[in-house]
Amino acid sequence: MAINPTSPTIQNLESAFAGESMANRKYLFFAKRARALGAIEVAEVFERTAEQETAHAFGHLELLFPQDELTVEKMLQLAIDGETYEYTEMYPKFRHLAEQEGNGAAVTELDEQIAESQEHAEQFAQTLAKAAKRFSALAKVEEKHANHYRDTLAAHKSI
Ligand SMILES: [Fe+2]
Ligand SMILES: [Fe+2]
Repeated sequence: MAINPTSPTIQNLESAFAGESMANRKYLFFAKRARALGAIEVAEVFERTAEQETAHAFGHLELLFPQDELTVEKMLQLAIDGETYEYTEMYPKFRHLAEQEGNGAAVTELDEQIAESQEHAEQFAQTLAKAAKRFSALAKVEEKHANHYRDTLAAHKSI
């Protein structure tokens, strides 16, 4: 079934995915702090639970990104779009507001995020270009094979 972005269920899955993903990172963050405080068992509970939250997030992703639609090119393009949105729209807007509020620490952190998102977008774009090149090289090999089969078949027919 094609994904309809306005479907309430799809929107709920998006929110649930965001929530589970955040729980995963938050629990790992808490685990690190618990470890630093010497609460090793607590840290381990957070780490184990974080792993399960990843599985929950993946469950939602499977419905949001059906496998048969997820080509290598599509995944790279989705990643480029996400990172580009971050560094061209989301973070600049957040940075502007942080500056207005006089939150210098947030401005510095957001500047770093802008630079990193841009770097990620560029890395993904380079990877996509490489994948496309490899794909067209493979297509050429396939074409060569197809021509070879056709010629062989034609030679057989003329015997
Ligand atoms: Fe969960
Ligand atoms: Fe990123």
